[in-house]
Amino acid sequence: MSVVVLISGRGSNMQALLDAGLPVAAVIGNTADAAALEIAARRGIGASVVEHKDYGTREEFDAALAAEIDRHSPRLVALAGFMRILTPGFVAHYAGRLVNIHPSLLPAFPGLDTHRRALAAGVKVHGCSVHFVSEQLDHGPIIVQAAVSVRPGDTPDLLAARVLRQEHVVYPRAVGWFLDGKLVVRNGVVSVKGNDAQLVYSDRD
Ligand code: GRF
Repeated sequence: MSVVVLISGRGSNMQALLDAGLPVAAVIGNTADAAALEIAARRGIGASVVEHKDYGTREEFDAALAAEIDRHSPRLVALAGFMRILTPGFVAHYAGRLVNIHPSLLPAFPGLDTHRRALAAGVKVHGCSVHFVSEQLDHGPIIVQAAVSVRPGDTPDLLAARVLRQEHVVYPRAVGWFLDGKLVVRNGVVSVKGNDAQLVYSDRD
């Protein structure tokens, strides 16, 4: 029934998953200085590191990471600010049970620096997406999205903060749906049994 969360940094999405009471078996980082590891340990969650720097190739790193993950036999692997590109072999190993949160309304703005790029493009709505991971970076079937308005005077930091609040709303929801067996993927399109809302729009704060 459990989830393994992969992190690289501050871990606010990881915390949102923990705060929601989801069954997180372990948190694994790719760098020992990730703040998320200490937060997890303080909360009594097993936290370990597989240092990407210790491996010569992506394949070797991914194999070591998968071995560490599989010690916990998780039902789901959740990427939460995990900043490594995963090999096709790794993605295939977790097919259908590997999810990510990305800070844009995919398929717009895959990759890094999404908030600055959204502002530069002049979009009026921005947000985040939780999706199943496929071989192509920041692609794969979309489970849920949250949208926020882009406001005059927004900076990348202001916009990022507004989107992040919604990330913390939708990621636990998506993981909960997965664990409850509610997600159905057909032709690359995800629906939720019971028709739970797969779009959140927030214009508060
Ligand atoms: C989030 O914006 C997430 O969408 C992206 O990386 C960031 C991680 O933040 N993939 P945190 O470590 O969860 O606070």
